[in-house]
Amino acid sequence: MSQNISSVLVENRVFKPSKDFAKRARISSMEQYRKMWKESIAKPDRFWAREAADLVWQKKWTKVLDWKLPFAKWFVGGKLNVSENCLDRHLGTARQNKAAIIWEGEPGEKRVLTYQQLHREVCKFANVLKRNGAKKGDRVIIYMPMIPEAAVAMLACARVGAVHSVVFGGFSADSIKDRIEDCGASLVVTADGGYRRGSIVPLKKNVDDALKAGGKNIKKVIVFKRAGNDIHIEEGRDVWWHREMEYVDAKCPPTALDSEHPLFILYTSGSTGKPKGILHTTAGYLIQCYTTCKYVFDLRDEDVYWCTADIGWVTGHSYIVYGPLSMGATAFMYEGAPNWPENDRFWRLIDEYKVTVFYTAPTAIRAFIRWGDEWVTKHDLSSLRLLGTVGEPINPEAWMWYHKLIGGGRCPIVDTWWQTETGGHMITPFPGATPTKPGTATLPFFGVDAAIVDDDGKEVPMNVGGKLVIRKPWPGMLRSIYGDKARYKQTYWSEVKGSYFAGDGARRDKDGYFWIVGRIDDVLNVAGHRIGTAELESVLVSHPAVAEAAVVGRPDELKGQAIVCFVTVKNGQQAHPELREELRKYVRHVIGPVATPDDIRFAEALPKTRSGKIMRRLLKQVASGQVVTGDTTTLEDLGVLAKLANDD
Ligand code: WT7
Repeated sequence: MSQNISSVLVENRVFKPSKDFAKRARISSMEQYRKMWKESIAKPDRFWAREAADLVWQKKWTKVLDWKLPFAKWFVGGKLNVSENCLDRHLGTARQNKAAIIWEGEPGEKRVLTYQQLHREVCKFANVLKRNGAKKGDRVIIYMPMIPEAAVAMLACARVGAVHSVVFGGFSADSIKDRIEDCGASLVVTADGGYRRGSIVPLKKNVDDALKAGGKNIKKVIVFKRAGNDIHIEEGRDVWWHREMEYVDAKCPPTALDSEHPLFILYTSGSTGKPKGILHTTAGYLIQCYTTCKYVFDLRDEDVYWCTADIGWVTGHSYIVYGPLSMGATAFMYEGAPNWPENDRFWRLIDEYKVTVFYTAPTAIRAFIRWGDEWVTKHDLSSLRLLGTVGEPINPEAWMWYHKLIGGGRCPIVDTWWQTETGGHMITPFPGATPTKPGTATLPFFGVDAAIVDDDGKEVPMNVGGKLVIRKPWPGMLRSIYGDKARYKQTYWSEVKGSYFAGDGARRDKDGYFWIVGRIDDVLNVAGHRIGTAELESVLVSHPAVAEAAVVGRPDELKGQAIVCFVTVKNGQQAHPELREELRKYVRHVIGPVATPDDIRFAEALPKTRSGKIMRRLLKQVASGQVVTGDTTTLEDLGVLAKLANDD
């Protein structure tokens, strides 16, 4: 039976961690949390030095933090290797033969890689990278399905000091090309195809198209054979992964890298037309991943931990690969869709593999609710002990359903607020300590000095909305936008003087809990994916029939936000239904399926202020049906509305 999830549930209950959970947790009381948080803010050097001592260093740092606003260097003078911390250090311990990655493919194949096996694969592939010309500092694009080799490729880059940039498998050829060109990559690692909802995503074909359109710097393409689909092999450029692995040996010492050596670049949408290459470096990022897995997921050796994100998003980087492996945990990985072959695939997997910690997105939870409880209740989910969410604010209905149906009323839920830019969790409950309330990410993680401020940068009173800012540097913070320090400074550190501005609006309640409202810049959150309206607009206006475009979000029950495009056509062009379909396909083709518009509405003209700024607030109201404009299937006269709004 599916439920109506559009009703607004008011849920005032507070959910305290059970005594049993608290007893075993690393942070087991609010007193302990507060004491450690205070120390992390007052004495960050001492706090982070203690955490950093858990890692393997080839050379110890001389200074914990060097902060010249807005540029931070963490663990100055230190040398280490991320892959050594995720792999080598578990060898020769009880973890050597423990599962590092347990994987299931969408068609149902099963694989387990122990730490020893994963180490061997990574060392060999690191040698393959070298053999194909990748050197320390070179950029490598990874465009892979959700298979263990995606993690192998990332860790192998880390081992040789190459900088990976993973492109989500749902992005198109154009997006791949743009990323290759922006970061100046010389190598691509991909697969012939990957499985998604029963069909094959033609990954290699997309790479071929990207390289036809540009990306001339690419010397080699390494192709993993996954789906067996027919592909083109470009002699001299394309090589097979399995063949290359035959030529190399399994010895590859981890390169000693500076704490601030770049680890990866990950592109994310912002409020301008061009995605930003978020740059993360070695030591600080790893510490952020490691400490959050330790304290927020409270990972144990006996856990089977499953994060359902794709490896192409930061969640996959931090919480499938770097965090869990640096803890020596067992990460479960699944290749495909949650509703393939049927709606209960996830619950089947949890039951079969006895997953204990499960981390997913509110948008997925809302889909599960819609599919109906019977898909869940026929499986035994009693192995679960902890649940997490990420990606957008969770509505109380979804929280309660997750708590009852998936968590059996016994699992704490950690609602983790963070961003591509922050590297790891920033505002989150501690599962053995923090009393949770449905819909709030609660309190800051260690070292996070979060506040809510008004337009003048002044902290706002309790329950008043404002901008969410971070007032102190933290280890996992982005170091820059790749190749554009000025844009980094401008985007994150100029809106509120002296602080990092995240782009989100929030308020704090009487307990100091942060309630994230959502983006207050022109960025949409569609099914947990960040999509810049400016990026969509620039794609739309690049179509020959389009004169102007404005894109806004409309609340959507399942996806959080839906994409609504207002479009005016050029003189002599007809705004007909076929054009609407064509534009939808065009955006999908240029950016990728994640950016497919939900509505395209043709307008005579876009409503503008006297200074020529598009009146987005008005368009948002029109998009969500708060302002009725008559027949929305034909041309809309928004000019009239604009006049009305101007007269206000
Ligand atoms: C934006 C960051 C962090 C990995 C996934 C998304 C929103 C994220 C929460 C949460 C409310 C959240 C914010 C943020 N967001 N987590 N728990 N509660 N909002 O990463 O693509 O960089 O997006 O996602 O709006 O700014 P991202």
